[in-house]
Amino acid sequence: MTAALAADPHPFGTYLSGLAEDEAVPAVLAVPVRSPDGPPDTPVPGPGAADLETYLGVSAADVIGCGDLTGRAGETAQSVIKLGARPCTVLFLGVGDASPAALRRAGAALARRLPAGQTALSTAVLDAPDEGAAAFTEGLLLGSYQFTMKSGGAAAAGPAEVRLLRAGPEGHDGPVRQASLLAGAVALARDLANTPSMIKSPGWLADEAVRIAAEHGLSSRVWTEAELASGGFGGVLGVGSGSARPPRLIELSYQPARPTQRHVVLIGKGITFDSGGLSLKPNDSMKMMKTDMAGGAAVIAAMSALAGLGVQARVTGLVAAAENMPSGTALRVGDVIKHYGGRTVEVLNTDAEGRLVLADALAYADAELAPDVMVDVATLTGAARVALGSVMAALYATDDGLASALLDAGTASGDRLWRMPLADDYRDALESPVADLANVARNGARAGSIDAALFLREFTGGRPWAHLDIAGAARSTSDDGENTKGATGFGTRLLLRWLAATPA
Ligand code: BES
Ligand code: MN
Ligand code: ZN
Repeated sequence: MTAALAADPHPFGTYLSGLAEDEAVPAVLAVPVRSPDGPPDTPVPGPGAADLETYLGVSAADVIGCGDLTGRAGETAQSVIKLGARPCTVLFLGVGDASPAALRRAGAALARRLPAGQTALSTAVLDAPDEGAAAFTEGLLLGSYQFTMKSGGAAAAGPAEVRLLRAGPEGHDGPVRQASLLAGAVALARDLANTPSMIKSPGWLADEAVRIAAEHGLSSRVWTEAELASGGFGGVLGVGSGSARPPRLIELSYQPARPTQRHVVLIGKGITFDSGGLSLKPNDSMKMMKTDMAGGAAVIAAMSALAGLGVQARVTGLVAAAENMPSGTALRVGDVIKHYGGRTVEVLNTDAEGRLVLADALAYADAELAPDVMVDVATLTGAARVALGSVMAALYATDDGLASALLDAGTASGDRLWRMPLADDYRDALESPVADLANVARNGARAGSIDAALFLREFTGGRPWAHLDIAGAARSTSDDGENTKGATGFGTRLLLRWLAATPA
């Protein structure tokens, strides 16, 4: 995170008119351009743009009309004006319909257009409501995220600082503060998921989680391999048994200042590398499997921001961490494992490992934590990616109220969800002749994401539960909107939105 932001307490008209004498003439001044609501087909000055007319010398609408602009969110075009005694680059920035989603995209585009690392003052005019200002700031921060292990050291990714000019009462930096909190949490999730697996063992992930927990006032507990064995966590142990680096179960607890009755348990898939195990993946499918703990990363990252956002509910985060590797000690195809609580599962494909570690965590939460609601987040199936691509994740839920609250939080946060059916029709295919359940459907390749969700439901004890299959959304193949190439941190903003809105 390199961008720092300051909301200007003064209406920007006052700020800009004072610039003649001011040292701080911005090197770049970003000016919003809206797409037209209807015909004629020309873009219109965005919120705040008209305040620049004194400097432009002509109407903002005319200037914008001259350029080849559409006002599409994230579009940019630049020109130079005289501001005070100095030249200043005006960056016309498309803000689309000025919705939060469009402003997020615009913020990210601005971060990419501004000179990286330059300390020269960059200013964005944006007369948007709090939610819009927060979205724009979030886009700026997330668009300038970078993860690099290049030997030359990290070149700065985004601008050093952007001043956001909005009309508003003095000291009104709430939106900037909130956006920084959210973006910081997302960056943390991205960092964890982008870290190569030669560093990121289950033990490493647990150490990071404990460190992060301590920094944010959470308590933590980590189960070692021996403790997992005596506790009966056969799923986590089985999946981890092929690796030289033993599995861990991580538990983080958030106790709000005024404790309430409501207890939310978040569960993340923490496969630190998914080779497929003995059901080995082809090389191409393995390339991004260092991010197979992205669900766990989102849970850890969300936990880290609960206190900052003043979340009212009690929240426990569980991350089932294991490395899925083939070896002489790995799970075999046809092995039967015993999950927490005693249920047995026949492992017919060792590459369907996520559901095995999650089953233990769900069963443990159900038996020991008395949750009012459980939500798991997992890069669970390639099928979810085939169905929905990378712009949204699959949502399954046993409770309609929970589903709609999560869908709303998804839309508002930018982490979009699409609800999928827990179609009982497919449940039979998970029957096993030798165990309580098989880990993949007998008929195969029908409804892979639904099959996995149905498998998980068996371990929820009938409690209100939602499952997010983020296999597609967890990573991006390019810089696109607020996402940067690589891990996206998907789920972090969604969980935080939902928890912040959730009644105590
Ligand atoms: N981690 C993968 C799912 C995945 C695939 C995530 C592609 C991201 C991109 C998961 O463990 C897996 O391998 N699932 C199998 C399940 C199958 C064996 C029933 C899959 O989707 O192929
Ligand atoms: Mn797998
Ligand atoms: Zn996996």
